[in-house]
Amino acid sequence: MIYFNKELVCLEGKEIKRNQTKLRSYIEYYQEHKHIENLDQVIYEVEYHDNGLNEGDQGGLFWGISHVMPGTIGNEYHMTKGHLHKKAETGEYYWGLKGIGLLLLVFEDDSYELQKVREGSVHYIPGNTSHRLINCGVETLSVGACWFTESGHDYSNCHFPIRVVKNGENKVEIINSTSKNQNK
Ligand SMILES: [Fe+2]
Repeated sequence: MIYFNKELVCLEGKEIKRNQTKLRSYIEYYQEHKHIENLDQVIYEVEYHDNGLNEGDQGGLFWGISHVMPGTIGNEYHMTKGHLHKKAETGEYYWGLKGIGLLLLVFEDDSYELQKVREGSVHYIPGNTSHRLINCGVETLSVGACWFTESGHDYSNCHFPIRVVKNGENKVEIINSTSKNQNK
C-alpha cells in the first residue's frame, strides 16, 4: 500500500521508487549550456508506485508524480527532457498538483500546444505526441501522471520546436528553438 501525502504533495510507503535527473545528464538540451555551475543540481525527480510490473509489460499501468524544481539555466526555465513513448500510439494522463507551469505537446503533424498546468488541471496526452513539462513558476511544479507499462520512453525521436524563457522579472516568453537538432 502507498499513500499520497497531500500536504507535502509526495508519495509515501515502501513501494515507492524515485529517479532524480541532474542537470549534468542533459545540459545540452538547454540553449545556454556553457559556463554553467553546479551541474550536480537535481532539476527534476519522478516518484512512482513500484507495483511489481516492468516497463514493457502488457496491460498494466504506472502511477507517479514528477517534481520539477524552480529556476532557469541561462534564461531558460527548468524543464524535463521530454519524450515520446516507445510504443508511440499509447496515451497518458497528467494532472497538476502544485505550482505553475506549462505542458508542451508536439503532435504528429508538428503543430504544438502549450497547456497551462496548475493545481487541479487535467491534461490528456494523445499517442504519438512528444511531451515535456516546464516550470515557469517560483515553486516546485508537481504533476501526477498515469501511463501504460508498455509505453516506455523514447528520448531520441521526440521533437520540441520551441523554448520557454524568462524575459525580465518573471515574464514568460516563447521563442523558437535554435537548436539544429530539435530533439533538444
Ligand atoms: Fe509519457
